[in-house]
Formats: sequence, C-alpha cells, structure tokens
Amino acid sequence: MTFLQRLLSALYPQTPTQETPMPTPIKLAIVYYSTYGTNHAMAEAAAEAARQAGAEVRVVKVRETAPQDVVNSQDAWKAQQERTAHVQEATPDDLEWADAILLSSPTRFGGAASQIRAYIDTLGGLWGTGKLANKTFSAMTSAQNPNGGQETTLQTLYVTAMHWGAILVPPGYTDPVIFASGGNPYGASVTADGGHLKDTDIASIQHQARRLVEVTQQLKR
Ligand SMILES: Cc1cc2nc3c(=O)[nH]c(=O)nc-3n(C[C@H](O)[C@H](O)[C@H](O)COP(=O)(O)O)c2cc1C
Repeated sequence: MTFLQRLLSALYPQTPTQETPMPTPIKLAIVYYSTYGTNHAMAEAAAEAARQAGAEVRVVKVRETAPQDVVNSQDAWKAQQERTAHVQEATPDDLEWADAILLSSPTRFGGAASQIRAYIDTLGGLWGTGKLANKTFSAMTSAQNPNGGQETTLQTLYVTAMHWGAILVPPGYTDPVIFASGGNPYGASVTADGGHLKDTDIASIQHQARRLVEVTQQLKR
C-alpha cells in the first residue's frame, strides 16, 4: 500500500484501495412487452433508477408473436413497433447473464400477455439446468382499468419465478410511494393511458427497481 493509500484509508476507512476493490455492479435484465407503449415507458423508468443505483442494465423487448397484418391494422400498435425497432429482442441469454430480473407485461384478461408467456416458454433449457435459480425477480404490469386484473397478472408471473427457484422481491409497502400509486404491494401497476406515466407511477416503478438492485447487491456480497 502506498503512502497516499495508507493516508486515505486512515482518513476515510470506506475509501476503496487496491485491497478493497469496488464491488462488481449487479446485472439487471429488464424484459418487457408493450403493444401501445406503457410497459416500454415503465421499463425505461425502471432502468434509469437501476443505473443510478449502480446496476448494469439491459432493457430488452420480447418478440412480437401477433401476425404483422394484425399489428398493421392498429395505428397505435404499429407506431409503437416502429418506435422501438432499435430495442434488442430478449433471448434466454439475457436471463442467464442477469443477477436480477424485472418483467413488465400488460394485463391480458387478468394474466400476462401471450408474447411474454411465449418468451417464458423458451426458458426450459435454463430452468432445466438450474440457471434461473437464486436470481432475484420482480414484476410490473399495466391494465386499462384500475381493478382490471393487475394483481392476478403479477401473481402469475411470481408463480412462474417460484418454479425457477428465483428469489421474489416485490415492493410490498416499503415506501409511501406505493400508497400514492394505488397501493399494489405485488409490483408497480399502471392504469394505462396510451403510454403516458403519472409522476406517482414513476415514483413507485423507480422505488421497485432500486429495491431490486439493493436487495440483489446485499445477496451478492
Ligand atoms: C387482448 C387484450 C386483453 C386485455 N385484457 C385486459 C384486462 O383483463 N383488464 C384490463 O384492465 N385491461 C385489459 N386490456 C388492456 C391492456 O391491459 C392495456 O392495453 C395495456 O395495459 C397497455 O399496455 P401497453 O401500452 O404496454 O401495451 C387488454 C387489452 C387487450 C388487447
């Protein structure tokens, strides 16, 4: 240890030296599906908070499974597809890479979108070799109606993660922002408004993302 390092560590015991390197950032995969933009905006809001909390973040979209002529038949759907043409499509490798997983799906008839389920169905190889075990997991959703099935959507995603042996990190009531955004302890749930997020939604999404990063950091120590 050089004189300067000795001096610094005497003055500031927490200062990283060659002997105490900075911890490796945790890796967070944010996997979303979004027809109209809400879950895409949620994923971006979560990514911003997670990066600020020190995580290395990948935001990836799951593959569209609807036929292209069906997508083209709705201007808003087609526009969202074009807006996000640059976003990488999720592969199983993204989850193998990650320490922490955040899934974001629209509510469809009280469950996750079929596009998200189709992606989950490609994960058998990872699950079968135990590669999804012990990763942390959290989920977010949106629905048209405040009581349109957000809670069941989140619960079914958590049930899937339980099959993997993942470690569930729901927000619970760990911050007042949860109450202000509707009080869903299972995960951020937005009442969809054409992709626009309210400040209260962003606050709860970002709290959930920070908490996922912090819990994962503690587990990796
Ligand atoms: C096939 C279909 C089923 C849906 N089912 C529900 C539902 O059960 N409850 C509800 O409140 N909204 C429902 N919606 C509305 C979506 O949840 C809403 O469009 C979505 O949350 C918007 O997210 P996005 O902008 O990321 O696509 C449904 C929409 C579609 C197209």
